[in-house]
Parts: sequence; C-alpha cells; structure tokens
Amino acid sequence: LCYKEETVKLFIDTANLDEIKKANSYGVLDGVTTNPTLLSKEKEEPMVQFKKICEIVKGPVSAEVTSLDAEGMLAEAKELAQISSNIVIKVPCTIDGLKTTKELSASGIKTNLTLCFSPSQALLVAKAGATYVSPFVGRLDDISTEGMNLIEDIRVIYDNYGIETQILVASIRHPLHFVEAARIGADVATVPLSVIEKLMKHPLTDIGIKRFSDDWEKLKTSLVK
Ligand code: E4P
Repeated sequence: LCYKEETVKLFIDTANLDEIKKANSYGVLDGVTTNPTLLSKEKEEPMVQFKKICEIVKGPVSAEVTSLDAEGMLAEAKELAQISSNIVIKVPCTIDGLKTTKELSASGIKTNLTLCFSPSQALLVAKAGATYVSPFVGRLDDISTEGMNLIEDIRVIYDNYGIETQILVASIRHPLHFVEAARIGADVATVPLSVIEKLMKHPLTDIGIKRFSDDWEKLKTSLVK
C-alpha cells in the first residue's frame, strides 16, 4: 500500500453484482453496504444475493435485519452471520437495535448501526459495542440540515473518549460528501457507483488527454512525411 496510516475506506452502496464487480475492478474498493431498498431492486432471494456479493468482495459486507424487536433481530443476525465471515449485521439505531448490538458484540459478530441521525444515537451505539455507525448525510441535507455537521460532531465525541466504533458516512449523493468525509477524518464512506466514478472525473484531465493525443498524432504524421 502507498500510505502509512489507515486511509478513509471506500465501500460501495449497492446490492447490484455488476456494479460491485465494476467498482472492485478499479482497485480501490474496501467493502459493500446494502439495505432492503437496494436489495428490492435485484429480484433475488436476499440470502443468495449476500452469498454472491461475499464471493466477489472479501472486505466487510453489510446485511440488514428487518425485524423491529431485539429477539427477531438476533435470530436474523445469526442466520446472516452464517453466510460468510465478512458479513456485518446492519441494525437500526433504536433501543432494540442497541440490545441487539450488545449481544452481537459479545459474541464477536460485527455490527453496523444504520439510520443514525444524531450524535446521541452515535454515542449510545458505540457504548453498546457497535463496529460501525452509519450517519446518513444526504437524508439530513434533504430536510435542510447540514448532514456533514453530524459527521464532525461524532468525530469530536469519539475522539474525546478514544471510541473505536468506525464512522461510516452513508447516504452520500455527490463527490464533495466524500471529500468532506475524508477531511473530517471519517473512517469509511459508502458511495454509489455513479458517485465513485465522478470522484475520478475532471474536465481538465479530459481536455489534457485530448491535447496530448492530438499533438502525438500530429508528430507521428509529420514524421511519416
Ligand atoms: C447506507 O448504508 C444506506 O444504504 C444508504 O447510504 C442510504 O442512502 P440513501 O439515503 O441515498 O438511500
């Protein structure tokens, strides 16, 4: 690797195999996050889809429970955890989610606490032993609240106490969300494929390539004469 310290990790936010394979081929993919809405677009039995995803990506793959009570969440989590050792159980930021996180963390199962919209939720899930917390920046922006302020608040609180729960910035809608996440020092950003591709796009790069290639062609033509 070309860096000394851990850099911001890049996950793809999708359940689509072609998108996952494409992002994986770019050489910068660290993991995958899914949710029930993303899975509903794939028309495949979710357990089968998770297995296929885990065959492509060796990093963490988040699979979400849909039960609302801790008992149901735990039962689902145990089944999901059987799929592969890189499955991370995605649990909502609720009281039942907290209880589930405590249990799963005691059994060594990794968790991703999703639908986080406040610093207090982020603090409590860390106390329960969450591996990741997923604050949703885009959905906060959608209701005229600065989503990135939440990431800054969580970073400060976690650093105050040396909390090791990883901040996974979710609901990313554009490249600046990713850049800001890295500037603040978030641990992970989960990004849709279209935004991952925009991260490498710059009009001056395209103009520069065109100019170099035109000049190269001119040179070759002049040498043939
Ligand atoms: C995170 O894990 C979620 O799957 C996702 O980022 C939600 O994004 P959205 O608000 O664009 O649906």
